[in-house]
Amino acid sequence: MTKKKKELIVTSALPYANGPLHFGHLLEHVQTDIWVRSQRILGNRCIYLCASDAHGTPIMMKADQENISPEKLVDKYMKEHKKTLKAFQIDHDCYYQTHSDENKKYSELIYNNALKNGYISKKKIKQLFDQEKNLFLADRYVQGDCPRCNAPNQYGDNCDTCGAKYEATELKNPISIFSKKSPIIKESEHIFFNLTSLENEIKTWIDESSLQESVINKLKEWFKDGLKDWDISRDAPYFGFKIPGFEDKYFYVWLDAPIGYIGTLEKFLKDSKDKASAQELWSENSNFEIYHFIGKDILNFHALFWPALLHAAEFKKPSNVFVHGFLTLNGKKMSKSKGNFLLADQYSEILKSDFLRYYLASKLTNKINDIDLDLKDFQKKVNTDLVGKFINIASRVQKFLKSNNNKIGTDLEESLIEEFRKEAEFIFNDYVNLDYSNACKRIMKLADSANQYIDQNQPWVLAKEKINHKKVIKISSTGMNLFRILNICLEPLIPETTSKINLYLNLAEDSFEKISSSVKNHEIQSFKPLIERIEDEDIENLIEASKGG
Ligand code: MSP
Ligand code: ZN
Repeated sequence: MTKKKKELIVTSALPYANGPLHFGHLLEHVQTDIWVRSQRILGNRCIYLCASDAHGTPIMMKADQENISPEKLVDKYMKEHKKTLKAFQIDHDCYYQTHSDENKKYSELIYNNALKNGYISKKKIKQLFDQEKNLFLADRYVQGDCPRCNAPNQYGDNCDTCGAKYEATELKNPISIFSKKSPIIKESEHIFFNLTSLENEIKTWIDESSLQESVINKLKEWFKDGLKDWDISRDAPYFGFKIPGFEDKYFYVWLDAPIGYIGTLEKFLKDSKDKASAQELWSENSNFEIYHFIGKDILNFHALFWPALLHAAEFKKPSNVFVHGFLTLNGKKMSKSKGNFLLADQYSEILKSDFLRYYLASKLTNKINDIDLDLKDFQKKVNTDLVGKFINIASRVQKFLKSNNNKIGTDLEESLIEEFRKEAEFIFNDYVNLDYSNACKRIMKLADSANQYIDQNQPWVLAKEKINHKKVIKISSTGMNLFRILNICLEPLIPETTSKINLYLNLAEDSFEKISSSVKNHEIQSFKPLIERIEDEDIENLIEASKGG
């Protein structure tokens, strides 16, 4: 039975272009990439998009510090991020940036549609203003005493000490972090997106998409607290797109950032000379399913504002939003200042990306709890599973095939191979359902049974007598077939290794589609080490790097 192939648009959240990527970013890209690869292996069309998030005050300030234009800063990090992610085999179809003509076009279009449909309004608000810098101060750019408990050095949104939530204008003795002077209160007109009037539409969307349970619970809490209209404008100076019809007002970065998914799709379609426009693929009646992978900290933007905005502008809403927890390192929150932090590039200098991909996968489920990367456990898990269990299958049987001119024979233990084949279906189901951890468990269980099969048949004993040649070849050929099925199952997780193994097996074009036929009467290459163990020294180097060394 052939199922109808799906068409999918898949995104990872757009990393800010103001610093190098760290392990938290990697968790998200690895999670997305495994899903994308699995979908492609299952024959679905999958357009995987990501970009640098270019706008907002922090980027403007960072460029200012470095004495370059924000455009230059963003270009620099975009290139760097692209390279970093490539080293982890993240297989985007397009990696672009939000400061682009395409994104400007769609930001204006979506805003104008929302305006036309009556979802935009104006309101005067009071904000803290740094007179020396000529800048309205975002919550994180002002510090003062908590209006409730008087704790000093609190930011403009909430208090670390007592947990109070407040407006920045309520802070006592506020100080701008830029000029270190006391800001004034200044009034300015802001543009609002009328989120409150779309509450029912968001609720319908939530009912229709199969969001994770903990995500639904979080959303319910927000509804209980009551939605507020969303301030989508910022005053100059700001790095972003000007709002049509205003002289000195810009879209807030979080308005145009998700629209960047659509802008990036447009860029991809143009570059691949596709006649379709991003607007068609994202239209309400499009056949494409749209999936966003995000961390739990940006859920409100993706599961409240974004579907509401798309609804208001008559675009297609996401089919689902997949949320992951945060990555902790050696049991603690990642923090540069506390010497517990790893950059993606620091890892690449020391170890292969497949190892990290495998380890993260072994911990990823569709729950949103945090995930710990314990470096010692990482070493143990990779060495035990990939080297000790998986690769071991091939290295144990290959030597007997040598006596058969490196040829896999024709006589095989088909019933065992068939069991593996059936399980492969479940493994790919786990991938699609984001339960990578379970997929890894299934794969390792199969690897154990392949090793047991070899143990029980003792080809090394049989090989002592020439008369057993056929039996030995049958056992080894079966072992190699089991190894090959596991290799196909591991492809989404460790693509660099599996393609190397495909070459070793002389099956360069091997795929899940071909899994139903066993490999028979087939010459393979002579054995070479397929992966190396992680050594203690590698882990010591990583620990050293994580301390900021
Ligand atoms: N620019 C916004 C996203 C815009 S999407 C339209 C942003 N950028 S970010 O660089 O701060 O984060 C990018 C992604 O990385 C987010 O999904 C975020 O949750 C994720 N992570 C950042 N730190 C993380 C961990 N320590 N662990 C796991 N993911 C984390 O937010
Ligand atoms: Zn307080």
